[in-house]
Amino acid sequence: MTAPPHADLPPGHPVRVMPRGTDGVGSVLVDQAAIEREVARLGAQISTDYAGKRLHLVGVLKGSALFVADLMRAISIPATVDFISIVPYAETSSSGVVRIRKDLDDSIEGKDVLVVEGICASGLTLSYLLRNFQTRNPASLKVCTFLAKQRERRADVHLDYVGCEVPDIFVVGYGLDREERYRNLPYVARLAQPAVRA
Ligand code: IMP
Ligand code: MG
Repeated sequence: MTAPPHADLPPGHPVRVMPRGTDGVGSVLVDQAAIEREVARLGAQISTDYAGKRLHLVGVLKGSALFVADLMRAISIPATVDFISIVPYAETSSSGVVRIRKDLDDSIEGKDVLVVEGICASGLTLSYLLRNFQTRNPASLKVCTFLAKQRERRADVHLDYVGCEVPDIFVVGYGLDREERYRNLPYVARLAQPAVRA
């Protein structure tokens, strides 16, 4: 007879349920402890830098969703939040022109806008968004990305806040997907399959 799952744990012990869809996931590059540490560091730095300002976070859906949720809780000063959803340029063209699927709800005029991204690879997406947002007259405009691939950069975009540098391999988890899978992994991992480039 097979023992029920977690039968070896004392009653009431918190159970670590692995998210579904972990097959195909390779080695972990940024584990949960590192995520928590980097988010806390970024939140503290942003809280200091934006003290007394009108901090307005703009998350880039969907990849930044988990990071935005964690980062907001690590920020100790008042902050508002909005989201923009874009169609990746890979699905439209390779020119770096990004189509906006869902625009911001609120005006950013006069606000201290911090764009929050899950990962910056070539930088084309952020570069486009920054140019677009600049025309809307924010008081200031900066970028916070959880992950950055340094060597893949093609667009000249300044990353004001970076969580972790990752190698130029395709990574998934902590909001990042491959064909909509793996976003719910609570860590960042490479794929077990041969690397697919972004
Ligand atoms: P960029 O325009 O090349 O900087 O790419 C940014 C977008 O590509 C991100 O918002 C992600 O959606 C996607 N992307 C780039 N690299 C990866 C990766 O390694 N894993 C998952 N998504 C990625
Ligand atoms: Mg994606």
